[in-house]
Amino acid sequence: SLPVPNVQSFASSKDCTEIPEKYIRPELNDSTLVLNAADGQGDIPVIDLSRLHHPQHSEDEMLKLSLACEHWGFFQLINHGVPNEVIEKMKIAMGEFFQLPLEAKKAYGQPPDSVEGYGQAFVVSEDQKLDWADMYILSTNPVHGRNLKLWPTNPPTFKEALEQYSLELRKVSHVLLDSIGKSLKIDEFICLFEDCLQSVRMNYYPPCPQASKVLGLSPHSDAGALTILLQVSEVQGLQIKKNGVWLPVKPLPGAFIVNIGDIIEIMSNGKYKSIEHRVMVNTEQERMSIATIHNPRFDAKVGPLPETLEKSEPYYKTISHHEYIRMLFSSKLEGKNLLDRMKL
Ligand code: SIN
Ligand code: FE2
Repeated sequence: SLPVPNVQSFASSKDCTEIPEKYIRPELNDSTLVLNAADGQGDIPVIDLSRLHHPQHSEDEMLKLSLACEHWGFFQLINHGVPNEVIEKMKIAMGEFFQLPLEAKKAYGQPPDSVEGYGQAFVVSEDQKLDWADMYILSTNPVHGRNLKLWPTNPPTFKEALEQYSLELRKVSHVLLDSIGKSLKIDEFICLFEDCLQSVRMNYYPPCPQASKVLGLSPHSDAGALTILLQVSEVQGLQIKKNGVWLPVKPLPGAFIVNIGDIIEIMSNGKYKSIEHRVMVNTEQERMSIATIHNPRFDAKVGPLPETLEKSEPYYKTISHHEYIRMLFSSKLEGKNLLDRMKL
């Protein structure tokens, strides 16, 4: 990928009155394409993780989960059991990291040809529009795959905060993936995620004087299997594409927002949907979020699972996980273009 200017430092500089053309999105002029929940689409479904465990309620909740995955690809997760202290500690550590001077953050900058570290990802061409955000990506599992040189020592709480947070999120992902596998009637599904690959993407969206003309994050579907998103600040901004229009997501207090990624769409042969989403920014307030991405084991192939092919043709290719990752990093983060490349 190409070097990209730092957005946070530009946004706080005196020059930030006229926004460079590279950030301006003409497509946003068409504001009719944004809906409110009140316009009749309803809000994204809510799944209660404690009910998935519960002997009397699990069947019901599993059905809700499966409908959410089929028709929305997104849901809010409540009663997830992650201790509030763990979440708060992570939020504070992230906030403190992004408040460090630029030079201090750059010490953890992405090495050449890597998306891990502080910077931006998915900029592959000179004429591509840029997102109004900086990000910091760290791989958290398997533990031996961590690149600790990219983990900050400042704030001093960061390492422990991320270790605890990512461990808790692995537990949540395990319950969800297990239920997803059962709802698809694929017995071995959860085995594909044993000691799964997990990475954390911290997103920092500075305020923008022309917020309505830029995007914090371009429309994309997530390439991984399952993303669990934490809104670090109250500021809203996430929108999902539902029936061709953009629907703002209003996070419930304490809930995670979970979405199906391309890999589960592919593995379920299209039954569960990986939905496009994007992020709007704010004129006054910064916005922060943490997306935790879960992927199958590295030796798992990416393709429709045999159980999904009993009644239909495969709609996607089967390739190795390596090949899939290579494809991902040579794609622009744009719409569903990775999924399209996987279509047969
Ligand atoms: C993402 O798509 O991972 C980011 C979503 C957000 O910041 O709300
Ligand atoms: Fe995403």
